Amino acid sequence: MSPSFTLRRLGASDALTYRDLRLLGLRSHPEAFGASFEDEAGRTVEWFAERLDLNVVWGGWRDGDPDLAGVAALHVSGAAKARHKGVLWGMFVRSEVCGSGLAAALAERVLAHAKDVVEEVRLSVVASNVAAVRLYTQLGFRPYGVEPRALKVGGEYHDEVLMALRF
Ligand SMILES: CC(C)(COP(=O)(O)OP(=O)(O)OC[C@H]1O[C@@H](n2cnc3c(N)ncnc32)[C@H](O)[C@@H]1OP(=O)(O)O)[C@@H](O)C(=O)NCCC(=O)NCCS
Repeated sequence: MSPSFTLRRLGASDALTYRDLRLLGLRSHPEAFGASFEDEAGRTVEWFAERLDLNVVWGGWRDGDPDLAGVAALHVSGAAKARHKGVLWGMFVRSEVCGSGLAAALAERVLAHAKDVVEEVRLSVVASNVAAVRLYTQLGFRPYGVEPRALKVGGEYHDEVLMALRF
């Protein structure tokens, strides 16, 4: 039987648990994120709380498990000329819940919110990240470009696919 999840939007009071999961993701998948573990590990809990205030971040828990299992986030710029688009970022689910549908469910919550506030959502994903590219494609995202050598991790370059979903 597939596990059941509880999903809700995270707020500043979730900063500690959000920080733990975010740092786990950055540490275990350095090539998957533009941000790095080294940069964020030194940030205070207050910094993560502010991030939760300034972004729309959804979290999911496996029923019966107190540990946050996955997150997905939306950022919308405050700049007048960029307010029509949002960025889906920070997608991560613990390895033990991969394949459970939680990632898609979290992204769908973020997109449902985005639909009310922006005209389209964009994201960037490392080209070799098959699971993520497939997930985003299934959600309706389409590629509009590639940024060669977008990330450099441990001396290795990674291209990123730029994807967009227009409502
Ligand atoms: C990206 C991520 C959120 C996806 O969540 P997930 O639970 O692993 O996603 P799924 O298992 O549902 O996989 C998505 C799709 O890719 C497919 N897939 C997964 N791994 C695959 C692989 N190695 N080769 C081919 N297809 C693969 C799955 O079968 C699924 O397709 P389907 O629904 O048609 O069966 C998760 O893998 C993760 O947190 N990865 C580390 C962080 C990361 O990469 N974040 C994204 C940054 S842009």
